[in-house]
Amino acid sequence: MTADAQRGSTPNNATFSLTDDATGNSTELPVITGSLGPSVIDVRSLYSATGRFTYDPGFTSTGSCESKITYIDGDEGILLHRGYPISELAENSDFLEVSYLLLYGELPSEKQKREFDDTITQHTMVHEQINYLFRGFRRDSHPMAVMIGVVGALAAFYHDTTDIQDPRQRMIASHRLIAKMPTIAAMAHKYAIGQPFVYPRNDLSYSENFLHMLFAVPCQDYEINPIQAKAMDRILILHADHEQNASTSTVRLAGSSGANPYACIAAGIATLWGPAHGGANEAVVLMLDEIGSVERIPECVARAKDKDDPFRLMGFGHRVYKNYDPRAKVLHKTCHEVLDDLGLDHEMFNIARELERIALEDEYFVERKLYPNVDFYSGIILKALGIPPHLFTVIFALARTVGWIAQWNEMIEDPHQKIGRPRQLYTGEKQRSYVPVGQRG
Ligand code: SDX
Repeated sequence: MTADAQRGSTPNNATFSLTDDATGNSTELPVITGSLGPSVIDVRSLYSATGRFTYDPGFTSTGSCESKITYIDGDEGILLHRGYPISELAENSDFLEVSYLLLYGELPSEKQKREFDDTITQHTMVHEQINYLFRGFRRDSHPMAVMIGVVGALAAFYHDTTDIQDPRQRMIASHRLIAKMPTIAAMAHKYAIGQPFVYPRNDLSYSENFLHMLFAVPCQDYEINPIQAKAMDRILILHADHEQNASTSTVRLAGSSGANPYACIAAGIATLWGPAHGGANEAVVLMLDEIGSVERIPECVARAKDKDDPFRLMGFGHRVYKNYDPRAKVLHKTCHEVLDDLGLDHEMFNIARELERIALEDEYFVERKLYPNVDFYSGIILKALGIPPHLFTVIFALARTVGWIAQWNEMIEDPHQKIGRPRQLYTGEKQRSYVPVGQRG
């Protein structure tokens, strides 16, 4: 089969022609052009027209949906949320304002922002029964395993808002998830270290409240450090959404069956945990710790290039970005600011910067367009804020919840939405007859 691309003169009647070498038949497929980025070949009629499937494990060339939420240009290193560049949002906005933007499509007015912040604040407490769920876990459980369990369990608590076809109920579930993730994340931390849970406070901002629930103890007042709160808020903004990544695609696929939204978010948390995805931030800090000094960097880079060694340079490379991840640029700058403002040593940061310098001069990385991604510097900042490494991906999940739920809402509202059900290339046994056990070889 050869692809003889004949694109129409205008986006409305552009087509892509495929000619089947086996039959000589040609198939015209519509080309759809969006507002930014590559056009798509609409292959929905391909199987009925040709009896053939497309084949794209890992979805390297497949658009799974239409979306208006986030746009990424991997070659130019561009990331827009509802059209606003991530660098401008990180510099000028706050996490709840970005959450409003992702959910509703526009930046809020002052009144809308005040009402949204109040709504989220009013949902930060969890049902008292949730406290008892934690007791079923070992204290040394990985907090991501705890998050999957506890967030999934929320599906058992809100029977009043399970009609996902009702926009009002969908938005209440969305607000509850955004509001309760910091509370549950902080509870997972407190449970792991044997300290009592700390209730949220309505007089604190979203990020201040999270730090307070993480670090406050009953026996003394906890003083919010505005530098730490601002750094945490910026980390959350930079992790809020990222187009159709693995965990977002999981949430969309789970949601396409009509599943409970809390259960869908739990599925997203499970996917994010993988070291190839959101688990990389924890892996980066463990890797930098293992390197230990600038002198050992060449050895680490050599291992990353060795095909016989499974070691990879964590925090480097990206399926979409073949340029510097714009989030990593902001995090590099934030890292420097936070360490300086908090008067902390830059040892790990210096190793990271030297590792980046060496890697970006190395042919192996240059040829494969492997640049630092969002996970490369985030862990250093979180470590500077006193967050233990095993909580790093939990914080990624906390931030990404708004992206997941915004994409879930968009999927439910999409009139073209159907249950996701991919096909396959079957290479197994052809039909054969059953052989009784006594007659087998
Ligand atoms: C996130 O999708 C998203 O948007 C994700 C994310 C989000 O916000 O949701 O941005 C968050 O997940 C960031 C990525 C975090 N993961 C890591 O930092 C782990 C290390 N990176 C890699 O595992 C890898 O780069 C991926 C998984 C991120 C991307 O993998 P791809 O696109 O499938 O690329 P690939 O594995 O086919 O690699 C292409 C080549 C291979 O070499 P060759 O076979 O061509 O010789 O590059 C090599 C790979 O071996 N390579 C690396 C490498 N990453 C890719 N070699 C050494 N170190 C690395 N980090």
